[in-house]
Amino acid sequence: MSEIVYLNGEFMPLDQARIPVLDRGFIFGDGVYEVIPVYSRHPFRLPEHLARLQRSLDAIRLANPMTEAEWARLIHDLIARHAGNDQSIYLQVTRGVAKRDHAFPREAQPTVFMMSSPLVTPAQDLVENGVPCISAIDYRWLKCDVKSVSLLGNCLLRQSAADVGATEVVLFRDGQLTEASASNVFVINNGRLLSPPKNHLILPGITYDVVLELAAACAIPIELRGIPEAEARSADEMWVTSSTKEVLAVVTLDGRPVGSGRPGPVFKVLHRAFQEFKRKVMRAAA
Ligand code: PDD
Repeated sequence: MSEIVYLNGEFMPLDQARIPVLDRGFIFGDGVYEVIPVYSRHPFRLPEHLARLQRSLDAIRLANPMTEAEWARLIHDLIARHAGNDQSIYLQVTRGVAKRDHAFPREAQPTVFMMSSPLVTPAQDLVENGVPCISAIDYRWLKCDVKSVSLLGNCLLRQSAADVGATEVVLFRDGQLTEASASNVFVINNGRLLSPPKNHLILPGITYDVVLELAAACAIPIELRGIPEAEARSADEMWVTSSTKEVLAVVTLDGRPVGSGRPGPVFKVLHRAFQEFKRKVMRAAA
């Protein structure tokens, strides 16, 4: 049996979901998306994900086809139609179907698609032993804060990591750390947690915010500022964070050990805090 997805007002089996070939999402990558983790059937940080969706829609000048309450109701409905307690909700809004023309159509109905997959968080082995990463020049566009479905740059970069068995590719633009192909990046130097500030060069990760909140609660000093490549490469610890990876320690970068080459002590504190925080939030929502 095919799983149930949502498309333009209806729930239907995935194998029956169809969009016209002139959809601007297909033709131009003209759309935005969100990935929302669901723990114990509760969407994690839903208001924050919906606020980011609104900012992405504003940035591409596309009216939000639904209110926040309508999004929340549909997301809960989709979750209820799937068996797993932990899910990953993917939603996408495109500018809809129109004759091919780069300029926006005068009238088009946005296409709204949503699906749920089992949430696969990192295996214990990866949490305990960390992951290898490579680095590359960040050659993506200058609106990386928009969660756009135009992900060709990210896909090419991510594949360069996959080609060599690396988990992620850590990106540097003009000699400064930005993020990774599908995650944010943190480093630890002399006990301080460093990450680039939110601007047009990185996606404002929901997990990034959670990590900063937890670090503050654990009294870990935080500095959000430009991080020169040399400083990132000589860091004591490096982490990647995202809704699906949560927090993972990077133990090698381009084959060279990061710090001790093992997940560091600050990572262990933060990872434990993250797991505890998840449990607490879910207990409160239950
Ligand atoms: N990616 N930076 C980029 C480029 C990303 O694609 C993502 C998430 C993040 C982390 O954001 P968050 O913490 O909100 O997941 C940072 C998602 C998971 C994806 O594209 O599948």
